[in-house]
Amino acid sequence: MKDMKVIGDDRVTSIGMGTWGIGGRETADHSRDGESVEVLRHGLELGINLIDTAEFYGAGHSEELVGMAIKGFPREDIFIISKVWPTHFGYEEAKKAARASARRLGTYIDLYLLHWPVDDFGKIEATLHALEDLVDEGLIRYVGVSNFDLELLKRSQEAMRRYEIVANEVKYSLKDRWPEDSGLLDYMKRDGIALIAYTPLEKGSLAMNECLAGIGRNYGKSAAQVALNYLIWNDNVVAIPKAGRKEHVEENAGAMGWRLSKEDRERARRCV
Ligand SMILES: NC(=O)c1ccc[n+]([C@@H]2O[C@H](COP(=O)([O-])OP(=O)(O)OC[C@H]3O[C@@H](n4cnc5c(N)ncnc54)[C@H](OP(=O)(O)O)[C@@H]3O)[C@@H](O)[C@H]2O)c1
Repeated sequence: MKDMKVIGDDRVTSIGMGTWGIGGRETADHSRDGESVEVLRHGLELGINLIDTAEFYGAGHSEELVGMAIKGFPREDIFIISKVWPTHFGYEEAKKAARASARRLGTYIDLYLLHWPVDDFGKIEATLHALEDLVDEGLIRYVGVSNFDLELLKRSQEAMRRYEIVANEVKYSLKDRWPEDSGLLDYMKRDGIALIAYTPLEKGSLAMNECLAGIGRNYGKSAAQVALNYLIWNDNVVAIPKAGRKEHVEENAGAMGWRLSKEDRERARRCV
């Protein structure tokens, strides 16, 4: 698969796989484990190499399913993102949370994110420093943040001692273009920070947009593929749609390897 982006020194596919709801939401749900693992494995077989999970998802069960899904694939070919929940912010707590996540995954974490900002910047700082030490310990490879606005991202960058913040995972879709409007996307582009776009299909609703489907027809692509392509058109953006079905993973993978024209990107903006 040739449609790649850079995170740190790694190359990842422009489309990754989200896991919110896989293995449960706030609590663990084991009812669809087999199917969920199969869907993730299917994505890996198609060449998607990035999976996004978090300790919060399914109260840790999503991470366990990711751990099952990657079995048999060369570990170094896969890029796993996980996140520490704010209740585990702080130096010791964050280290403990990362160890628990790695245990559930059965492996190290490529990119570990602070899931949501908190008001107390001291807590954020202590957590960032814990993550730097975890890089030294080899438990995680890169440090990042999630849901950080421009000001907080800059402040966090300044707080780092030895490593860079390589990514910020934020909501970004055709319908919700706040990273463009706020200057966050441009700043991250200039600074070489990856923007990981979550809820890129607006929970699936963009896949049903007739106007986007019309644009897609010129390319032999669907509305969902147009919505995702709009995002990954940016050099530093990776989108992480969640798919619970194999046909959706396949469709999402088909958002890669081509590009909307500038004119069609403009038209796509007017569709939503
Ligand atoms: N960092 C954060 O704070 C944060 C917050 C929210 C989400 N996230 C991450 O971002 C991921 C994606 O966001 P999301 O799950 O909120 O929303 P999303 O990816 O925009 O939407 C997921 C929904 O879209 C459907 N879908 C997927 N591919 C489709 C396709 N090709 N055609 C039609 N429908 C399709 C899925 O249905 P099926 O399941 O039936 O396939 C599911 O119902 C999450 O799973 C999570 O990993 C991170």
